Amino acid sequence: METVLPSIASAHDQERIASILRLKAERNAVILAHYYQYSEIQELADFVGDSLELSRKAQQTDADVIVFCGVHFMAETAKILNPTKRVLLPDVHAGCSLAESAPADEYRRVREQLRERYPNHVGITYINCSAEVKALSDIICTSSNAERIIGSVPEDVPILFAPDRNLGAYLQRKTGRTMLLWNGTCIVHQSFSLRRIEEQLAEHPDAELIAHPECEDAILERAHFIGSTSALLRYTMESPRSTFIVATEPGILHQMAKASPQKRFIPALPQEEGCRCSECPYMKLNTLEKLYQCLLQGEPEIHLDPELIERARQPLERMLELSR
Ligand code: 13P
Ligand code: SF4
Repeated sequence: METVLPSIASAHDQERIASILRLKAERNAVILAHYYQYSEIQELADFVGDSLELSRKAQQTDADVIVFCGVHFMAETAKILNPTKRVLLPDVHAGCSLAESAPADEYRRVREQLRERYPNHVGITYINCSAEVKALSDIICTSSNAERIIGSVPEDVPILFAPDRNLGAYLQRKTGRTMLLWNGTCIVHQSFSLRRIEEQLAEHPDAELIAHPECEDAILERAHFIGSTSALLRYTMESPRSTFIVATEPGILHQMAKASPQKRFIPALPQEEGCRCSECPYMKLNTLEKLYQCLLQGEPEIHLDPELIERARQPLERMLELSR
């Protein structure tokens, strides 16, 4: 799976693409897509980006409808930041293992217990969480601004970092700051195998390993560069190297190959041979057909209680303010 530029679309897909573009114009909709979406969806989108960039775009758009080709927490974030817009998600079941690892009741209970021991502690929560958990957090962060967000909290104030323990451990090493870490993981980034990546590096001695900070410590320690999806893409564009082993969801290879067609991008291998576990099963629920149906029917739509929107907006806006 090294060549990721889309194959010629079938006549049916071409017809669907034309219908999507027509409906998008009729509904005054904007299509936002994450890098882990299928290539054909990325090609159709008005904007493709990482979680932080997509949040900003969702907040700033003046379109009437935001079609979010990503996962549920991303569409919820768009609704929270721009509540007067209709926000559609092509497949409402597009969840996230990290968001699932932090149910709101459990998060609330842990915060209450912690307040007894550390009354002044701060809850920094990765954007990969539900609207309820955002509302219970003090500041949200993404993988591209987390260091800055942590740096904004005074040294003597304890931090609970949720829900990604790998990103949290990486940030502890980067900032030298000890935090209380929630025990969640991304099933996709957890699937990579250092043993198999070592074999890939031996096979391609000129290659650099680049990794998303949701990967385990052992892989991050071996990586030549670590960053958010946008940072990984920028790195491959700017680096003089010509071969990269990419330890993140392989949807990003589409933009990497598009930006640097002369370079070679090799998806890092997961533990199980032959398994497609490095592909996000949630992101990949969105298809061209579901995107078409969602624009046609105007659903699935994200509905959130206005009071929840108000509470979840504050920690998100704190993040946007701190990452200007
Ligand atoms: P970023 O695109 O912000 O790096 O996030 C990666 C991810 O796992 C999104 O679900
Ligand atoms: Fe969640 Fe991981 Fe999929 Fe991103 S790649 S949506 S963190 S399960």
